[in-house]
Amino acid sequence: MPAGSQLQLESIAAIPLYNGDDEAAGGVPPAVARLKDAIAAADGLLLVSPEYNNSLPGVTKNAIDWLSRPASDVARVFRGRPVAIAGASPGGFGTILSQNAWLPVFRTLGADLWPGGRLLVSRAAGLIGPDGELADRDTLAAVEKFMAGFVSYVRLRSAVPPA
Ligand SMILES: Cc1cc2nc3c(=O)[nH]c(=O)nc-3n(C[C@H](O)[C@H](O)[C@H](O)COP(=O)(O)O)c2cc1C
Repeated sequence: MPAGSQLQLESIAAIPLYNGDDEAAGGVPPAVARLKDAIAAADGLLLVSPEYNNSLPGVTKNAIDWLSRPASDVARVFRGRPVAIAGASPGGFGTILSQNAWLPVFRTLGADLWPGGRLLVSRAAGLIGPDGELADRDTLAAVEKFMAGFVSYVRLRSAVPPA
């Protein structure tokens, strides 16, 4: 991450399947409420998602769907929030079809999609060292460039009051 910025890692692992009856009976689950608050407190959101069957993974979409509930809270969580999308895949296309499939989702939520860069990491299995960390220098440089661009955008956006 660029100097002066922080990346807070969050997981969707505790988010159950969306069910409108459950929501009507009990509201959003605690894991969803916590993640919504974390996004609302952040200056920007980086979504790192794999690609399933040439589109976005249903499990990740399920999480975003819960995070968009209730609809009256979408503005607090997503509207105008800078969003960047990244991903890594074992094949040669680096999640490009997944990333494209996210675009209408974040447009619908009114997020401020960063148009300035793409991070498509292909053949990812060969880029990771034995310690599980990214070891490939070119990919590390691409990640650094991507994050520097997104953080600059976030800083620019947070300096401008919303219209
Ligand atoms: C159901 C399924 C569909 C997949 N489809 C794609 C695909 O279309 N393109 C691709 O690059 N990788 C595809 N993969 C491989 C994933 O990129 C790879 O399994 C990745 O590690 C998934 O991340 P995960 O372990 O967090 O699920 C698919 C994997 C699964 C399980």
